[in-house]
Amino acid sequence: MSFTPEFLDELRARVPVSGVVGRKVKLIKRGREFSGLCPFHNEKSPSFTVNDDKGFYHCFGCGAHGDVITFVTETEGLTFPESVERLAEQAGLQVPKGSREDIELSKKRASLYDVMEEISRWFEEQLAAKGGQEARDYVNRRGLRGETVSRFRLGFAPNQRGLLRKAMNARGIGDEQLVDVGVIKPSEGGGRNDGDDFWDYFINRLMFPITDRRGRIIAFGGRALGESKAKYLNSPDTTLFHKGKVLYNLAYARQAAHDLGEVIVTEGYMDVIALSQAGFPAAVAPLGTAVTEDQIQELWRMVAEPTLCLDGDQAGIRAAYRVVERALPIIKPGKSLLFCTLPEGEDPDSLIQTQGATTMREHLSRARPLSEMLWKKTIEGLKLDTPERRAALKAELRKQISVITDKDLSFEYQKEMFRRYDTLTGGSGGASGQSAAAYGGQGRNTGYGAQNYQKPYNKNTNWKGAGRGKGQKNAYEPDPRIPRASMPPKMLARRQEQVLLAALINHPAVLSKHLEDLATLRLPSKDFDVVLQELVDAVVREPDLDREALKCQLCDKGYSRLVDELLGPAVLDHGKFARPATDSYAAEHGVSHIAAMFREKQAEREKSIHSREFAANMDETGLAQLEERKLHRQEVSGVSIDLDSYDPDAFEDSH
Ligand code: UTP
Ligand code: MN
Repeated sequence: MSFTPEFLDELRARVPVSGVVGRKVKLIKRGREFSGLCPFHNEKSPSFTVNDDKGFYHCFGCGAHGDVITFVTETEGLTFPESVERLAEQAGLQVPKGSREDIELSKKRASLYDVMEEISRWFEEQLAAKGGQEARDYVNRRGLRGETVSRFRLGFAPNQRGLLRKAMNARGIGDEQLVDVGVIKPSEGGGRNDGDDFWDYFINRLMFPITDRRGRIIAFGGRALGESKAKYLNSPDTTLFHKGKVLYNLAYARQAAHDLGEVIVTEGYMDVIALSQAGFPAAVAPLGTAVTEDQIQELWRMVAEPTLCLDGDQAGIRAAYRVVERALPIIKPGKSLLFCTLPEGEDPDSLIQTQGATTMREHLSRARPLSEMLWKKTIEGLKLDTPERRAALKAELRKQISVITDKDLSFEYQKEMFRRYDTLTGGSGGASGQSAAAYGGQGRNTGYGAQNYQKPYNKNTNWKGAGRGKGQKNAYEPDPRIPRASMPPKMLARRQEQVLLAALINHPAVLSKHLEDLATLRLPSKDFDVVLQELVDAVVREPDLDREALKCQLCDKGYSRLVDELLGPAVLDHGKFARPATDSYAAEHGVSHIAAMFREKQAEREKSIHSREFAANMDETGLAQLEERKLHRQEVSGVSIDLDSYDPDAFEDSH
């Protein structure tokens, strides 16, 4: 559904940000603003502010920024349209409707939700009724408490055909609707001899209603209670239900997730229910398929790093590797997955039954990051006893990393994987001839459980290079010192652009002072060049803008993500002069330095364009233009700063 900008503006105007934020964050009024502890990162003193006049919230600590709609999207895990609808409802605003077809479809859907609700209630009744004795016994054997059964609205589809249809028909629900929601299907060609026109989808099953994000029932899962080919059966895809987009228990988990800061992803319905009953309410499950990209995105709306629980057997590990492959192209700074490997043959349900919630918690706390799974996956079964084989591993690592779309993240992965590689192959002069298996690869067929996951790394300390003494921590802890030389030139250029922009944002006075020069400077990367223009524009409009106002302006223009990126540690570590705490002299020095460098590159680019043009139409004007460019270039390079006088600590690797 799309909304008109007018409507969105009215909504923003009608709903004060502080009112909505105030439900989640304790706000204290300070002048025209409110402040409180940021709900988006951990902090002890408040750096989160809300400004109703301007209609935004902003965190000076983590840079979280947005309007009232964003806030609902971020904290409730709702999509944009859903957030708008929710806020409109609260404000008593009528949401303008879309096209006629949209209206028809949403009407049809609305009535199908009611149908599902009726069906679900009927299944619940059957579980409580006389005929449900066997199903109740089963539920008890599985250790489910009464309150759990009603909370998850478990039901029973009796072992008798036609009952559901009859009951629903009696309530005025027609066959067509029952077919639409996928609980019955027409029997083809009169294949049945009992004269029935329809088949029941679920027979003699324990029923698990599946809801959408808002808690409306859209499908069922059914577990066979007797003999059946399929242990579990899910509703077919319908207008309401698209398997790959839905997560079981999402509606409840969503709320718990934001408060607890965790989401646990398991394989089955029973696992989710067992987890919830044992005090892990933020648990969800895909519906009998591997986790899809849509589902990962959905998980990220709840927490930054959802934890996937896997069976410790081969199948579970294969499943994990598939998730790794699916996740790599879409991971973002801060957004990833954790992998919790359970002992072989256990799922969360069985683990909780036999060993209790505490053991489950211990396993969860030992969950491993995605990067480690990628490493495991890549070195699995490899022998590294020849240069060719080691080089092949390197190539494979590069190939794996190449699918990561985010630039910073890709760089971080590169560092991480090659650090592991160096450790594994003994770095410079370490022992060789080792097989990857000896360092935790799958050459061993024993334990892959969370506990022994790390052991192989720690066990083999003897082969490490001599320089790494006893004081060394875990070999797999990230090395804070970045080997700068390994940064590819393209990335380095982008990093320099980032440093320049970060310095300008953090030091608006420098921006003001060098306005003329910066206004005509073109950066090689389009996205950064646009930001530079924005910065120049902002200062042209308001010469005395301070840092925060400048950031807010960029955020208002939709650059909040870029701003976060620019002011992140990766950039500020690279160009220390860009930090807000740097004195403005150093900042100015650094800015002039990079600006001059880019100015020179710009001149080069323009020169090559002009000489190409000149070659194409060799005439007097072309020659004159080329000469003029040359002159200009000499002038420009005359301005550039003496590199030798440069403080390498303030700006590493610019030269
Ligand atoms: P499992 O076979 O691991 O079952 O299926 P489980 O969750 O441990 O169930 P219990 O403990 O035996 O009752 C995990 C998930 O895979 C899907 C279901 O979503 C199930 O929850 N599945 C499984 C199917 O869709 N069809 C099947 O036949 C089996
Ligand atoms: Mn199970």
